[in-house]
Amino acid sequence: MSNHILIVDDEEMIRELLSSALEQEAYQCHGASNVDEAFALLGEIPVDLVISDIMMPGRSGVDLLRDLKRIDQDIAVLMITGLSDMTTALECVHLGADDYITKPFGINRVILTVKNLIERRSLTLEKKQYQTSLEFKVMEQTAQIRKTMNELSHAYDSTLTALVKALDAREKEVGSHSERVMNYTVFLGEKIGITGKELQELAKGALLHDIGKIGISDNILLKPGPLDEQEWLDMRCHPQVGYAILSDIEFLKGPAEMILSHHERFDGSGYPKGLKDEQIPISSRIFALVDTLDAMTSNRPYRKALPFAQMTEEIIKCRGSQFDPDITDLFASIPRRQWEECSGKRFID
Ligand SMILES: [Fe+2]
Ligand SMILES: [Fe+2]
Repeated sequence: MSNHILIVDDEEMIRELLSSALEQEAYQCHGASNVDEAFALLGEIPVDLVISDIMMPGRSGVDLLRDLKRIDQDIAVLMITGLSDMTTALECVHLGADDYITKPFGINRVILTVKNLIERRSLTLEKKQYQTSLEFKVMEQTAQIRKTMNELSHAYDSTLTALVKALDAREKEVGSHSERVMNYTVFLGEKIGITGKELQELAKGALLHDIGKIGISDNILLKPGPLDEQEWLDMRCHPQVGYAILSDIEFLKGPAEMILSHHERFDGSGYPKGLKDEQIPISSRIFALVDTLDAMTSNRPYRKALPFAQMTEEIIKCRGSQFDPDITDLFASIPRRQWEECSGKRFID
């Protein structure tokens, strides 16, 4: 592919002299006798190099240079100046001209300069193209990685949900207790101002809260009557068992902490550690309340669900003993309709 050169000079003789010399070097030359004509040609031909005189009728070569560099930084420009006019020549370099030649010029000098400038331009363009394709590749790969991460996190979530469904089924839960308490927990957590990663951990902790029951035998878990002392001790291990299962998994460390404390009580009478008020993670304090809320409003094999008003009364009774008083007040201020929307089920009257 041969390079295009635009020669801008009001003297036809000079245009022809330059054209014929450069065409012998296999360049394709185009001539313009003033700046307007030059711009008209620039709109039609992919010009690589402009050779321009400075003094011309109408707009000058300096005007041409200034406008040209504004449109295309990479186009090469060689200015031809009178010997007496070094100030203008330097101004041109300042404005972005790649080189200048003084009149009268030797044609060999022009050819050599043109070759250099064309070479330099093609190197610049190559570099730019490489850069662009590199940036594109990086962008493409980033998108791919992001997609994979998303797919992975979906895969994690579906695995966890499947596991929890199996646990709920084993406890003969009607509907999905774990998913409902997850929704309640997130709902309340958002109202308290928890966001982002912490909110996600809250959701996972709620979803997996009773995962430690996986280690409890069916005889105890599904026993219709009251538990004896040893059975009760086994049952009370489930927060620690849950913690032991999850705390080694990097992305479940936060949820594991919440699970460890989900049976603590605000007044310190809970288990496993008997933590009090602020010692209990906020996530566990939120969760403890909604776990009770859902347990009381769901049918169990041994008792029917309580009406909404009665459940509210019971929870408020435990304000400050079992539950964090602030969280209890927040719970009590939220209308029944919002809880129903949150769980997707109607409470009984
Ligand atoms: Fe539990
Ligand atoms: Fe529960």
